[in-house]
Formats: sequence, structure tokens, C-alpha cells
Amino acid sequence: MPQRSTPLWIDCDTGIDDALALLLALGDPAANLIGVSTVAGNCPLPQATENTLRVLELAGARRIPLSAGAAGPLAGPTADARQIHGVDGLGGCAEMLPPARRRPQAEPAAQILVRTLRACPGHITLVATGPLTNLALALALDGDIARHARHVVVMGGAVAAPGNVGPTVEFNIAADPEAARTVFAAPWPLTLVSLDVTMDVCMGTAQVAALRAGGGPVAAFCAQTLTAYMRAYERLGFRPEAPMHDPLAVAVACDPALVQAVQLPVGIETRGEWTRGMTVADQRVLSRPTLLAGRRTVQVCREVNAQAAIRRMLRAWGAQPAGG
Ligand code: BDR
Ligand code: CA
Repeated sequence: MPQRSTPLWIDCDTGIDDALALLLALGDPAANLIGVSTVAGNCPLPQATENTLRVLELAGARRIPLSAGAAGPLAGPTADARQIHGVDGLGGCAEMLPPARRRPQAEPAAQILVRTLRACPGHITLVATGPLTNLALALALDGDIARHARHVVVMGGAVAAPGNVGPTVEFNIAADPEAARTVFAAPWPLTLVSLDVTMDVCMGTAQVAALRAGGGPVAAFCAQTLTAYMRAYERLGFRPEAPMHDPLAVAVACDPALVQAVQLPVGIETRGEWTRGMTVADQRVLSRPTLLAGRRTVQVCREVNAQAAIRRMLRAWGAQPAGG
């Protein structure tokens, strides 16, 4: 039987791996990308929006609604991740993309999210691959949307794994902890795809070669931007490999069987000197289920089938199949 595709809305801060996540959603038959919104994060909002429009153009996805959202967090300074994603947000590869031939919709992201979720109750999966500002603003406009989303998949946080922008904190959550607190407290089914699993799904030179051999423009762009991403991680002292943070969130939205997860209460620390933006999971409930009583939980991914996830991504991006 053909698999039914999942209607996805991606909220992103494009970003190298956000671009790869969008191209996964556009190339995977299990995904049906119905809309995209942008938020400041890896780069300033205008750049994230421009990058997103150009990625959609590359994939020929000109009719997918694109709305710009928040230019900064609910509180505190606006983050950026130029160190990893470069000044253009795409590791210097933006120029490989076709120019955007349209502008974002006039309606701001939070409003369009509310309208879209209300129009299709129980239907849409939201995948957030940037700071959670737009989702928090949408909840502030209309808290009922938490009952209308089918599922929310958040790339962010670090539960048992170390953080990436501080000892315990991950970029997307640390960039807007107040927004994350709101989003994690809302009563929607939420899956957390944190560094605990994304750091296990890495691509390197073998995958770049398979993409180059794939030949099409999407594969060529993925190979080039992935190379820039690997080099950035290498400069920071990691192995020359790039973790597939945002693509993994899309892959999990399409196929939850890629991960093993547990239901845990998760709070967002907003006050600590070292821990502002930390995802604090109460793992005591695993051995003492009575501690769960009346508490809101989220699905926390703990193990991932990395090979299956990588295969899925490469296929969607048009890489040459292994042995092909
Ligand atoms: C997250 O931070 C961003 O730099 C990436 O795009 C990803 O969403 C990983 O911590
Ligand atoms: Ca991102």
C-alpha cells in the first residue's frame, strides 16, 4: 500500500541544515510540505527568508506559502550562528541557488500559523528547526492551536548530551528560552529531536561523493553546502563530519520509527547563569512512574537508526544510490 504523506509546515531559520531539511521535505514521498515560515536564528530574518525562498526555487516549489516571522527573540539578545553557517547562512553557497522570484506573503508567520492550523484541525505536523519564537507568538495569539496541530516536532535541546553553544544548552532553545518554555508547556503532542540523537546522524566525504555522483542541481547544492558545513565543524575541533540536526527532525516527522523515544516531563530553564536555555528532563519518572501524575510530558528521542535516516536523506536529495 502506498504510504500516506504527512502534511508538514516547517518553521526555520535557514541555515545550512535547515536548507537540507527543506529539501528533504520536498524530496521525500512521505512528506507533503504545505507551508514554511522563517525566524531569526542562524542568520538575521531577511537573510533566513531570502535563503528559504531560494531553496524553494531550486526545488521548483514556487507555490508553497512562505511567511516571514520574528526578527528576534521574545527576550534577550538576538543570536546568530555565522561561525557555522557563514555570513550568507549557507556556508557561502547561496550564490549557487537561483534568485528568488517572489516575496514572502504579507501575513506574518504567527498569524498564518494560527489560520492554517485552525483551518485543518488534527491534520498538520509542525516541524520547528529554528528558535521557537514564531510558535510562541502563535500560541499567544490563539492558545487553542495547541489542540489543532496534529503533532509538533522540535529540533532543539540537549537532554543527556552536552550542549553546543554552552555546556548544557543547544542553539535553538538558547536563542529564545522564553519562547521554548511556552511551546513546551502547551498541550500539543510534541517530539523533541535533540542533540542526543542529531549528533549521531553525521555525514562526511562518502555522502558528499554520493551526492556529487547524483548529478542533479539539488544534489549538487547539497554536496557543496554539506562540504562547507563539515569544514565549519572541523574548524571548531570536531571530526570533519556534519550532524544532520534539522533534516533529522523532518525525517522523524515522516517516519517516527527511525527513533526510540520516551515520554518525559521537560522544563526549560530561563534563569540560570550557565543553564539559561537548558532542556531539563525529569528522568526520575522512568524508575518512579508515580512522579508522572498530572504532569505534562513530551516525547524525547534517545536512540536513532542513523543509517536508515542517512539513506532516507540521500535518496530525497538525489544522491547516487549505494552500489549504483
Ligand atoms: C541547530 O542550531 C542551528 O545552528 C541549526 O540549524 C540547528 O537547527 C542545532 O543546534
Ligand atoms: Ca536551524
